[in-house]
Amino acid sequence: MVKPKIAPSMLSSDFSNLASEAERMLRCGADWLHMDIMDGHFVPNLTIGAPVIESLRKHTKAYLDCHLMVTNPLDYVEPLGKAGASGFTFHIEASKDNWKELVQLIKSKGMTPGVSLKPGTPIEDVYPLLEDENPVELVLVMTVEPGFGGQKFMPEMMDKVRTLRKKYPSLDIEVDGGLGPSTINMAASAGANCIVAGSSVFGASDPAQVITLLRKSVEDFQKTN
Ligand code: DX5
Ligand code: ZN
Repeated sequence: MVKPKIAPSMLSSDFSNLASEAERMLRCGADWLHMDIMDGHFVPNLTIGAPVIESLRKHTKAYLDCHLMVTNPLDYVEPLGKAGASGFTFHIEASKDNWKELVQLIKSKGMTPGVSLKPGTPIEDVYPLLEDENPVELVLVMTVEPGFGGQKFMPEMMDKVRTLRKKYPSLDIEVDGGLGPSTINMAASAGANCIVAGSSVFGASDPAQVITLLRKSVEDFQKTN
């Protein structure tokens, strides 16, 4: 069975205190730290890049789950590998022609390759990347339009998760956008096991409680299946 992984999105953290925010989340029970890398071009927002990952890496051994919302993901592999990124999840919309090369390079730099898709992109578009001899190891199903935290969860994306889970029982399936106590059951029952949560965790008076609840929901639905 695939392990539940709860990944607070550091986009909702206090960036001026990134190391202590990361430590706080890990103390609260986070499995991964989700790092949103945006280039101001693929999405209308600009966040962090390899230098910040490198700084954070000096303070933590945690799995840094990097989500690349960038037009040219290939350009980021080498710097992020050097910086100490753990997972490298790129968007299929930005890598239609070079995903094979991209996956190979990500692996060669010691990172775990993942692919993400925007709400408007059909799930079939990622099948070739899962069936390749050198496959991606995670699929990130966006449940909001990428770019900003704090948006409303799109329940209609759960069809993608269900379809994927049926086809790939042992795949890491991640959901990102609008996840929290009121939406987790939809994602967990559809088969998601990696849960990104930004505003619901950082905005909570007791983040540990939210993280525990998210994990429990994934575990409970796994038991019933
Ligand atoms: C949005 C990012 C998300 C975002 C999620 O483009 O990929 O990781 O931080 O934030 P919430 O959980 O607040 O929707
Ligand atoms: Zn993200």
